[in-house]
Amino acid sequence: MTSTKDATVVLEAVGLTKHFPVRRTLRDLVRRTHHAVHAVDDVHLTLKRGRVVALVGESGSGKSTVARLLAQLYPRTGGDIRLHGESTRVRSGRQFRGYAGRVQMIFQDPFASLNPVHTIRYHLTRALRIHHNDGGDLEAALRELLTRVSLTPPERYLDKFPHELSGGQRQRVAIARALGARPEALLADEPVSMLDVSIRLGVLNLLRDLKERLDLAILYITHDIASARYFADETLVMYAGRMVEGGDSETVTQTPAHPYTRLLIDSAPDPDRLTGDVDPLSNGVSSRVFRRGSAQADRGNGEPPSLIRPPSGCRFHPRCPAAMPRCSTDLPVPLEIGDVPGHWAACWLYEGTAG
Ligand SMILES: Nc1ncnc2c1ncn2[C@@H]1O[C@H](COP(=O)(O)OP(=O)(O)O)[C@@H](O)[C@H]1O
Ligand code: SF4
Ligand SMILES: [Mg+2]
Repeated sequence: MTSTKDATVVLEAVGLTKHFPVRRTLRDLVRRTHHAVHAVDDVHLTLKRGRVVALVGESGSGKSTVARLLAQLYPRTGGDIRLHGESTRVRSGRQFRGYAGRVQMIFQDPFASLNPVHTIRYHLTRALRIHHNDGGDLEAALRELLTRVSLTPPERYLDKFPHELSGGQRQRVAIARALGARPEALLADEPVSMLDVSIRLGVLNLLRDLKERLDLAILYITHDIASARYFADETLVMYAGRMVEGGDSETVTQTPAHPYTRLLIDSAPDPDRLTGDVDPLSNGVSSRVFRRGSAQADRGNGEPPSLIRPPSGCRFHPRCPAAMPRCSTDLPVPLEIGDVPGHWAACWLYEGTAG
């Protein structure tokens, strides 16, 4: 979680924070109060070449805001964004274009992200021209981009409009457009969640192939923790604007430590996809935690909290089956879990359990 000069590190968030101001009501004006949505607080993450980090959490937990901050589409309230170890903050359109040439975003809805009045050729040409005005063979570059995302033969797609393609094909065009910038990092915000279940795997496999062939650093945002296990090397879990657990994907999904991660896994639509032959309750610290919490397991349901007045202490405490008195007052710090290197959870249950 610390900043590093490691050559494989492409992009880092260090204490990244975003509070959206809320429009003031008459009562706020009279009382001189200001409110803000605490969408993202003190987020740390590191994207490395040739690796996928999954950011998992339910709707409203702040995942898209993290991606947009990293893409510098929003100014940040606090913290830092480092590209190859250098602090970066874009202040002009020119700086933004330079940054976007290295860090590209893929959005959830490929239809909304492609302009319906323009052809695929137009979208890809624009991406190539904005970022690389190098006067090379444009036609060859267009064909290569479409081939990279398996839309072949390319001439079948180049002069089509977005509405003439399927959802999966549109998302492949959006990925090709992002690749047109020749980025080092891709921020993929729920890239398959609007696609038909039957074609999701194909698009994830494409991203994995690109990661390997182009050595891309990928942030994969999802509310589906099962897909994180399948696709990501590392998984980070976010709840109500804060990171609550992280580690390698296998460990986080098979032996989750934080009560919220457990809740996410338990409420995943198809638990068989996650657990395979292994029962995540059967070993290690997590089973201890859940025996402790099981008496109040019914408190594990409920709604995510308001981010205008987030709960004090641990933001998960109103829903946590294992909550203790200090949880409502003290903000948990990230604590190492057991003996798996790099596995941590921000939960007081693990105080004094490391090693
Ligand atoms: N532009 C914005 N202005 C005000 N609040 C916002 C804005 N964007 C997101 N939010 C709020 O920030 C919180 C996190 O949203 P978001 O990052 O979209 O979560 P997720 O992607 O995990 O669903 C939500 O409460 C959302 O309503
Ligand atoms: S710190 Fe307390 S309330 Fe928060 S997840 Fe851990 S046990 Fe539950
Ligand atoms: Mg989102």
